[in-house]
Amino acid sequence: MPTDEPDTRNLFEEFVVPTYSRYDVVLVRGRGSRVWDEEGKEYLDFGAGIAVSTLGHAHPRMIEALDRQARKLIHTSNLYYTRPQGELARKLVELVDVQGKVFFSNSGAEANEAAIKLARKFGNECSGPLKNGSPKFEILTFHRSFHGRTIAGISATAQEKIKEGFAPLLAGFKHLPFNELAAVEKAITGETVAILIEPVQGEGGIYPASNEFLLGLRRLCDHHGLLLMLDEIQCGLGRLGNWCGWKEIVKEELVPDTISWAKGIGGGFPLGATWIRKKPIHSFTGAAVDLCDLLKPGTHGTTYGGTPLACATSLAVLETIEQEGLLQHARNHGDYAKKQLSALPGIKEVRGIGLMLGIELGEEFAPLAVNGKTPSQVIVVRSMQNGLLTVPAGPSVIRWLPPLNVSRTDIDEAVSILARSLDEIRPR
Ligand SMILES: Cc1ncc(COP(=O)(O)O)c(C=O)c1O
Repeated sequence: MPTDEPDTRNLFEEFVVPTYSRYDVVLVRGRGSRVWDEEGKEYLDFGAGIAVSTLGHAHPRMIEALDRQARKLIHTSNLYYTRPQGELARKLVELVDVQGKVFFSNSGAEANEAAIKLARKFGNECSGPLKNGSPKFEILTFHRSFHGRTIAGISATAQEKIKEGFAPLLAGFKHLPFNELAAVEKAITGETVAILIEPVQGEGGIYPASNEFLLGLRRLCDHHGLLLMLDEIQCGLGRLGNWCGWKEIVKEELVPDTISWAKGIGGGFPLGATWIRKKPIHSFTGAAVDLCDLLKPGTHGTTYGGTPLACATSLAVLETIEQEGLLQHARNHGDYAKKQLSALPGIKEVRGIGLMLGIELGEEFAPLAVNGKTPSQVIVVRSMQNGLLTVPAGPSVIRWLPPLNVSRTDIDEAVSILARSLDEIRPR
């Protein structure tokens, strides 16, 4: 870089909207589970771009797919058919193993937006009007949930800090205690049309739903004619050691009505997708229609959703997960990491499934909460200085979301960096 060029941090200060409080590091390249900053310092990347880089950085299969498709056709529009979008939709439906169809977008917030719009459409056209003639529209979500940063996303999200300053929000969301079925049963009214849930809450601090809760929600949805919508944006497509995250939790068959995906689906290439179940429903006019065909031409869309480049890349990522046995790998290595982490002094609990882990700090770290920083932020920064990237979730939880092909040696190294970081700043 020419010496008269400003520092990267200065470019951000002057030209980038300050929506993020960034760590004081400029990352320039990555390979496998490691990234390097502009000074050449190496880090183990156990945040993986917040559960995104499932194959790690610069995986040859992903590079090859990007290169091959980029030379053929990067983008056209959804005015035309393109082969990779059709093939990826088929692949995703096969992975769910239930008949359905897929709508493509670009991010998690948009994947949820499609599910929320589907619920509205279902309420408008198919689930019976209220006594006053207006459509049903209420969606139930859960305390600590996170569903994205659009207005619909923050309205669905139960965390107050995410909503602050953006009133009035979208009407029609009610937030309920997580894993408390009786509360849900009590909250369902004639206005309710759907339930939206993360099978493992991510941003809220890595809290898995229970088997009984998820099965109970399905029963309630069936009984009241509601849609069960799973937000698998963080926990889906391999992170929990299963294509379908909820199947690592439920002991019986559970078929959702929608699934939202993003993050890991493209291994780092932006893509969102919403699976909608093929399920016969009836409109008020009596016409039979499948749920997956309810969003008709002109009702929803996005310019970039499902470009040939995004879909060809995602296909390569999913095929690589399959061919390299990474579901089993994520399960084994997640169990291994959990065991090592649980043995560290000062750790209260390690929650999570597969490679979606939440490390809850013990009370002894509470005094680290000074100058507006939480204990988890302080430890994430110290670990980063010691060469390990992780992500805080709530005031006392550190998230580990490494690439699905992370090695045992990398896990051992990460555990020892975290142990050292905890020791260095443990209040005495
Ligand atoms: C469960 C869940 N839903 C939705 C989102 C929003 O995804 P995006 O940031 O891609 O819009 C996230 C992102 O963290 C998430 O974890």
